[in-house]
Amino acid sequence: MTSPAAGSATGSVTVRVPAKVNVQLAVGAPRPDGFHDLANVFLAVGLHDEVTVTPADALRVTCSGPDAAQVPLDATNLAARAALALAERHGREANVHIHIAKDIPVAGGMAGGSADGAGALLACDALWGTGASREELLDICAELGSDVPFSLVGGAALGRGRGELLTPLEAGGTFHWVFAVADGGLSTPAVYAECDRLRAGTHVPAPEPSPALLEALRTGDAAALAATVSNDLQPAAVSLRPSLADTLDAGTGAGALAAMVSGSGPTTAFLVADAPAAQKVADALTASGTCRAVRIAAGPVPGATVV
Ligand code: C5P
Repeated sequence: MTSPAAGSATGSVTVRVPAKVNVQLAVGAPRPDGFHDLANVFLAVGLHDEVTVTPADALRVTCSGPDAAQVPLDATNLAARAALALAERHGREANVHIHIAKDIPVAGGMAGGSADGAGALLACDALWGTGASREELLDICAELGSDVPFSLVGGAALGRGRGELLTPLEAGGTFHWVFAVADGGLSTPAVYAECDRLRAGTHVPAPEPSPALLEALRTGDAAALAATVSNDLQPAAVSLRPSLADTLDAGTGAGALAAMVSGSGPTTAFLVADAPAAQKVADALTASGTCRAVRIAAGPVPGATVV
């Protein structure tokens, strides 16, 4: 493989992109456009997809990894859409082979699809020497999906609007997590719809970030963060997938500081004190038989990066 020089006409470019967990996901009432205003505190964690783009005769997507069979390889794939969007803006063909080496759980509430969109965008920009500004890349990310800008930026950030309007946040330490991967995915629109259904007839306040949570993040205090994490989509995810309650109980019983559904689920996320605690909770979750796979990861980590 040729070295991934920016603007290379013949080589390949590989971008590494992290998964995310939402330490706070406050969801407002549905907007007229069908989306929901959010106060969404994102943390990028060390599970990564790698997106490689190589010049080709036509746009083509391939995927490898244990869950590759669940990844759509057609024009609905966010990586393909990212390449097309950048090519269209710069008046060129998106003739590129996109290969996704997938390690982020698919349809799991960890922004795996969004990661591939951000990764393909950055990779095509480097391959084609497009020289798009950070602002333009973020614009395209926001067109692709609500979580895609965060996949580009990484670290820790507050997402307002539908999650795409980002403010970077300071994180004063590394937070250790265990993730329990459930069988099958959950549809994000279905989870939002279930959230609306469960809250029908109740007053839904405008979503606001929790000052105590932002302070816990800033000081790197895992116990304080655990006391303040929240996910308004969790009741909806558990309603659609009641077995998630057993997974959450198994992690709590093993000593996790906090147990929550990751984003729209069905992956569940367990905040723990340190690496040894992560191993203990991971072993207990594996033994519980309440999930398909268990992963350990820490964050924050950087966003999409050319490797
Ligand atoms: O933006 P994205 O394509 O990821 O959103 C997928 C779906 O999730 C939307 O069509 C919508 O049903 C729901 N959603 C929402 N409010 C948000 C983000 C997503 O209702 N802020």
